[in-house]
Amino acid sequence: MYTIISGTNRADSNTIKIARQYDYFLRQKGIEPNFLSLENMDVNHRSPAMIQLEKTILIPAKKFIFIAPEYNGSIPGVLKSLIDISDIKNVWWGKKALLAGVSTGRAGNLRGMEHFTGILHYVKVIVHPNKLPISIVDRLLDAEGKITDPATVKVINQQLDEFIEF
Ligand SMILES: Cc1cc2nc3c(=O)[nH]c(=O)nc-3n(C[C@H](O)[C@H](O)[C@H](O)COP(=O)(O)O)c2cc1C
Repeated sequence: MYTIISGTNRADSNTIKIARQYDYFLRQKGIEPNFLSLENMDVNHRSPAMIQLEKTILIPAKKFIFIAPEYNGSIPGVLKSLIDISDIKNVWWGKKALLAGVSTGRAGNLRGMEHFTGILHYVKVIVHPNKLPISIVDRLLDAEGKITDPATVKVINQQLDEFIEF
């Protein structure tokens, strides 16, 4: 089972738009992923809602796709907090992850993806080496939040094909 995590709590983020595109491309390949947005999520304590989320879409997932925006040169704090409050052994150990970074700047969260790789390795998650920086994201999305740039569509699909085989 696949779970896509949109790694920000910012409302109306570009990250969630990119994450929805990953969801769409995966479905085109015959895979029906779960989708988790960190918007409106309380990651400050292990609430009943958090425990329920773990049971339904985090623990059963074998593969995670993280879409993480670049906030001040790294991943958002809310994404680290999700890891910190989770049941580490049951949610993460031995699982696999694919990463994409999102920014309006030029880096596409390259540095944040490296930081996050270190964290994921610490919780025994195997990270796919093809990490995709999606930079100047505001120029890649149309009014409906779809990616218009064919080169970006191509590299996302390549990345997903590799992850399916991973
Ligand atoms: C708190 C915060 C910090 C940010 N820091 C950076 C940054 O370090 N580098 C960058 O290129 N863009 C930065 N941005 C802009 C984001 O790249 C931009 O908002 C992009 O759309 C991804 O974030 P979003 O998913 O919240 O929209 C920052 C945005 C916020 C809200």
